[in-house]
Amino acid sequence: MTATSLDQIISLCKRRGFVFPGSEIYGGLQGIYDYGPLGVELKNNLIAEWWRANVYERDDMEGLDAAILMNRLVWKYSGHEETFNDPLVDCRTCKSRWRADHIHGRCPNCGSTDLTEPRPFNMMFSTQVGPVADSGALAYLRPETAQGIFVNFANVLATTSRKLPFGIAQVGKAFRNEINPRNFLFRVREFEQMEIEYFVMPGTDEAWHQQWLEDRLRWWDSVGVPRQRITVYDVPPDELAHYSKRTYDLMYQYPDLGPQEIEGIANRTDYDLGSHSKDQASLNLTARVTPNADSTARLTYFDPERRQHVVPYVIEPSAGVGRGALAVLCEAYAEEMTRALPAEKLQAVTDALTAFLKSVGRSEKLHPEARDAMLAYGEAIGNHLPERLPEVEPLLAMPGADTIELGKKLRGQAQPLIDEHFRTVLRLRPRLAPVKVAVFPLKRNHDAMVETARRIRRQLQLELGARTVYDDTGAIGKLYRRQDEIGTPWCITVDFDTLGEGKEPALTDTVTVRDRDTMAQERVPIADLPLYLREKLR
Ligand code: GAP
Repeated sequence: MTATSLDQIISLCKRRGFVFPGSEIYGGLQGIYDYGPLGVELKNNLIAEWWRANVYERDDMEGLDAAILMNRLVWKYSGHEETFNDPLVDCRTCKSRWRADHIHGRCPNCGSTDLTEPRPFNMMFSTQVGPVADSGALAYLRPETAQGIFVNFANVLATTSRKLPFGIAQVGKAFRNEINPRNFLFRVREFEQMEIEYFVMPGTDEAWHQQWLEDRLRWWDSVGVPRQRITVYDVPPDELAHYSKRTYDLMYQYPDLGPQEIEGIANRTDYDLGSHSKDQASLNLTARVTPNADSTARLTYFDPERRQHVVPYVIEPSAGVGRGALAVLCEAYAEEMTRALPAEKLQAVTDALTAFLKSVGRSEKLHPEARDAMLAYGEAIGNHLPERLPEVEPLLAMPGADTIELGKKLRGQAQPLIDEHFRTVLRLRPRLAPVKVAVFPLKRNHDAMVETARRIRRQLQLELGARTVYDDTGAIGKLYRRQDEIGTPWCITVDFDTLGEGKEPALTDTVTVRDRDTMAQERVPIADLPLYLREKLR
């Protein structure tokens, strides 16, 4: 199972501290989010997997971390000053602002057709470098990390003696003043990109483009975003970015949003290295570039076989970290029944839902659209009880549901059953899980048990080099449930037997390890834990 609506993920992220709206206590800042204690771990783990697969496990890649602020000329010659624009229209009726190519001549907010003519709007955030605000101080927050790689091409080549083909990988922040940031982490104004610029001999570019498409699909699969959930969109010529000869967009099937771009894989030709080079006329460029009188370098590669300088072509796989993390969460998310519901309890909750929906149908307070939506959703849940019982929560959170008195009764019937018979689980790949191991003492007022549990946690932290936590704030069942919800693959419980105080002396110095996915429990000697877990984390 995967998430069936984006709201499930948004609610989990907020509830458990994956993601918070930015500057929330001041009313937020549109299109800006902060990653909380679990979100930062998930995001870092996703980036680490990308870096491992693309930098460490390949023989043809170098890493880079270029500055966010760059000389303005970078953005002049990259083409972003001139072309990184969207056509915008304003609605004269409700004063909202829209992308002209998204709205078909009608304001989506108020329906008015009284719109201004489209005007270009540059999506780069500008700032100034130094204390004097003249035009010479103008700088931009980078809208893509890629340019930091292009302008360092000669530096990397000179210091690593690489031969074509080779790539440079970089992860970092990018900023775009999106007109309509929306859909949670999907379209935001500050985000992170994981980008590779892969430099190849001209003429081999198309084959490498196909190769990277395959490699990237395989990588998404390895982090839990399966190939069959991604469609490849061969971007038609009139939609291509100004630098691209051909682009494949990987479109992940997000709940509610449908297929949306998670990564773009572009053939940028010799456009960028050519654009940032001096003496362009001597370089046999195939791309159309702006004449460059400012660059001090020729960004070329000396081909030892042909004994001549060439401007490499570039294949660019460019993925968003936030969009990636969101897809990973959607795929991992499941709500599942852990124990069968007794027939009489199922009947009682079915009756409460039926009565609630009857009352919704009769309600005069509800807007007809809200009423119909609630009825349709409620009936869908009713047709799939008990499996969809946990969806009573989002049903009761729908607009206007709080005006239906019988909602309280339904919640009262459903909530204890949800708590007792269902769990939310994130089936994250263990390497992506924010917390790898949680350690509990069976009794929190037993000093030796607490001390042993804390010692195991510390030891595993060192041995695994990943986040482990200690928790004693509830009964074991509740603690398991909490860890399931954040995707912790293993929970360890220290009990009387561990201390040699139980009925089974043979279990002294062993603990219970409980598996998130199967919920199976195994007794493992404390001394074997590091090896046992390291094997599983591979
Ligand atoms: N260097 C090429 C480039 O920047 P892009 O298709 O504009 O290409 C690459 O962006 C990736 O960055 C996208 O596939 C997406 O994952 C992510 N991305 C772009 N704009 C974003 C936004 N406003 N919010 C979140 N992620 C975004």
